[in-house]
Amino acid sequence: MATYLVTGANRGIGYEYCKQLQGRGDTVIAVCRTSAPELDALGIRVETGVDITDDMSIASLVQRLKDIELDVLLNNAGIIKRITLDNLDFDSIREQFEVNALGPLRLTHALLPQLKTGSKIILMTSRMGSIDDNTSGGSYGYRMSKVALSMAGKSLAHDLKPRGIAVGILHPGLVQTRMTGFTPSGITPTESVQGLLARIDGLTLENTGSFWHANGEILPW
Ligand SMILES: NC(=O)c1ccc[n+]([C@@H]2O[C@H](COP(=O)([O-])OP(=O)(O)OC[C@H]3O[C@@H](n4cnc5c(N)ncnc54)[C@H](OP(=O)(O)O)[C@@H]3O)[C@@H](O)[C@H]2O)c1
Repeated sequence: MATYLVTGANRGIGYEYCKQLQGRGDTVIAVCRTSAPELDALGIRVETGVDITDDMSIASLVQRLKDIELDVLLNNAGIIKRITLDNLDFDSIREQFEVNALGPLRLTHALLPQLKTGSKIILMTSRMGSIDDNTSGGSYGYRMSKVALSMAGKSLAHDLKPRGIAVGILHPGLVQTRMTGFTPSGITPTESVQGLLARIDGLTLENTGSFWHANGEILPW
């Protein structure tokens, strides 16, 4: 059984990760800004008050977890704001960089001492952060911040391979969560996380730094 830390754990894909991991007997540390009744009902450790854009908030979390070794650090928290060329809101673009790109890197760096040989780091990026796959434009802040996150993941994969730590860069599919307005054309969080956990279980130092769809497809950069 392994110890997983999951950010954005109070809803959507993050909550589903917690539920499925707990269901299969893993130890889960659920990290969020504010908990939710369904998360509390899982009976796992929940660490609240953690904003991944805030250094003090992350330092406080690290202090609370200081004796724990993590097998998997699952950077899941993220935001999307629809920014078009006709409505370029640079503050919003900057905010999306802070949450989607810098936040996971900041948290990963802070928790590195708690990772060991054989540990894994997961970055929840998006197909919308694939340059080759961008056939429709728009979404400037989200697309740009997820490209930056994926690039951070590739560098982490190179930098941490000698330490025996593998990095997975994952797209969950189009998923019915608040982020997508629970779109009926999406898959359920249950189905998405089943695929994501299969990818995480299959992540090794040989395939570290790969960009995968939850369904196992390798995605273009
Ligand atoms: N749903 C999809 O189709 C889809 C597709 C591609 C990629 N993704 C990625 O998958 C991940 C999870 O998405 P989701 O669909 O589950 O989204 P969601 O339901 O909107 O949940 C987002 C989570 O991120 C947390 N969060 C946002 N800003 C934060 C901050 N500054 N500090 C800490 N936590 C913060 C939210 O917490 P609060 O409740 O406190 O706001 C929430 O728990 C995201 O990285 C997203 O970009 C999703």
